[in-house]
Amino acid sequence: DLIPVTLIPGDGIGPEIIASTLEILETIKAPFQWDKQLAGMAAVDASGDPLPQQTIDSIHKTGLALKGPLTTPVGKGFRSINVTLRKEFGLYANVRPTRTLIPGGRFENVDIVLVRENLEGFYAAMEHYIPVGDDPKAIATCAGYTSRTECRRIVKYAFDYAVKNNRKKVTLVHKANILKELCGLFLEEGRKVAKEYEGKIACEERIVDACAMELVLKPETYDVIVTTNLFGDILSDLTSGLIGGLGMPPGANIGEKAAMFEAVHGSAPDIAGKNMANPLAVLRASAMMLEYVNRVDLAKRIESAIEKVVVHDKVRTKDLGGNASTSDMTAALKRAIA
Ligand code: NAI
Ligand code: MG
Repeated sequence: DLIPVTLIPGDGIGPEIIASTLEILETIKAPFQWDKQLAGMAAVDASGDPLPQQTIDSIHKTGLALKGPLTTPVGKGFRSINVTLRKEFGLYANVRPTRTLIPGGRFENVDIVLVRENLEGFYAAMEHYIPVGDDPKAIATCAGYTSRTECRRIVKYAFDYAVKNNRKKVTLVHKANILKELCGLFLEEGRKVAKEYEGKIACEERIVDACAMELVLKPETYDVIVTTNLFGDILSDLTSGLIGGLGMPPGANIGEKAAMFEAVHGSAPDIAGKNMANPLAVLRASAMMLEYVNRVDLAKRIESAIEKVVVHDKVRTKDLGGNASTSDMTAALKRAIA
């Protein structure tokens, strides 16, 4: 039985890396049936709407999406499509695993799973500019918020993830020393949840700035990190940098009723259409989707093929220091996985 999935190829390098991923999924006979839909600039070009109702309806039906990166149109009137999608489907947990793949880089043995709260904080976008015009006395405000329910839910997700994936420790990352209410609530709920896992999963706390420093000094000491939206956004790019850039880490956006899988990186307009993009991040996102639908066996085949091709056979795209094209890498992965 095939599982229906909404497929959004996306913008920039999106269509190239999604095509690569589809070839590999086809080779292993992944049990998906694709419902191809548009979003981003591709949708603006086709219909003037960056997020057509038809695309939203499709995800409501399938509850699953594999998505290429979207270029958010610049200019007033367009809200971030990613933020809108997360809100529409209540995708509260953004899960970003990063681990060292290629040895000999700046850091060894990095294996961090960052769980980012995806709906609240400063990205709820209640922004104001007062007053209008270029008055030098103008001020801009942003009202961030956190709710007890959401803080509890995201920390609980991180601990459950740790249990399910044989992890040892969860670090609560916050700024409760300054943002006593906004982050205080997160920390308070986090501590309560941690108590429920005592003896099973260890819990540590870090203030976000100290965490940023420590991630660079001794990233191997981190296991699962859970944090609020803005901090998670920034720290997950940092952790991507620890393992050699944005070309590799995948991301899952998980809700109660739907889940959306994508790369952490964006549409990379600087290399779009040049057959240069690293397809691994979105391929790994598809592996996370396979795990989500309980096909860990197929997810493992993808991970071992990546290991063989990239680590042992050293087939690498430019961002990884090699000279393989997107299609070279795709062909090598298909051979390795067949
Ligand atoms: P970006 O992630 O697209 O690019 C940053 C740098 O990393 C560029 O030099 C790019 O060439 C490189 N890079 C990214 N992915 C790569 C890959 N797979 N292989 C090789 N090199 C890769 O970030 P940027 O330039 O800030 O954003 C471009 C557009 O993407 C913007 O419109 C932004 O809004 C959007 N974006 C969309 C996201 C999503 O849909 N989830 C996430 C982040 C950005
Ligand atoms: Mg980001």
